[in-house]
Amino acid sequence: MTNGIRGRFISFEGIDGAGKSTQHQWLVDRLNAQGREVVATREPGGTPLGEKLRALLLAETMHLDTEALLMFAARREHVESVIRPALARGAWVVCDRFVDASMAYQGGGRGLSAVRLRDLAQWTLGDLRPDLTFLFDLPVELALKRLRAATPNPDRFEREQAEFFERVRATYLEIAAAEPHRVRVIDARLSLLEIQVTLENIIASY
Ligand code: TYD
Repeated sequence: MTNGIRGRFISFEGIDGAGKSTQHQWLVDRLNAQGREVVATREPGGTPLGEKLRALLLAETMHLDTEALLMFAARREHVESVIRPALARGAWVVCDRFVDASMAYQGGGRGLSAVRLRDLAQWTLGDLRPDLTFLFDLPVELALKRLRAATPNPDRFEREQAEFFERVRATYLEIAAAEPHRVRVIDARLSLLEIQVTLENIIASY
């Protein structure tokens, strides 16, 4: 630990097509420009092993339990080798998706038991959670329109139907309602610039 102050942990969430990855990159650049040490990372992925698991998760047909376990296996590596060390030395970790995505996609989308997922989260993360989560929210119909226009080769998740994404979105909004201090809902229908102003204001007041 360099300064005795734990860094900040920020995650970006939302259904596919919400535009969060663009804003993730923008925030990373912005924080870097302010002279902070920023670790930009993503899930599934974030480590060499995690990126291999990501490739499997996005391409291969598998049982829904296998999918959940691989998501958490990748996360375990990520937390241990990237996130905890970065926070301990005072860096800001800005992560494109984290454990809320498992609650929303594997829980809401696939229908896996929330109790099981919480047990996995407890086992693999202990009490580590993001300090702040931006949830990019928009109607599923609009997200799918954006997604279909921007993604010529959709992955296994991006090929899901509207009903799947409705369940994912509903679960994300339930998490936001349960933890309003941590999870800030961003209206993803707004322009890139309007969203950036919102993010900036939230970070500044945080
Ligand atoms: P995503 O951030 O959408 O990658 P990209 O923008 O490059 O397509 O993440 C890939 C997919 O993984 C996404 O459809 C959601 C899914 N996912 C889960 O189902 N559970 C999880 O725990 C995580 C982290 C992601």
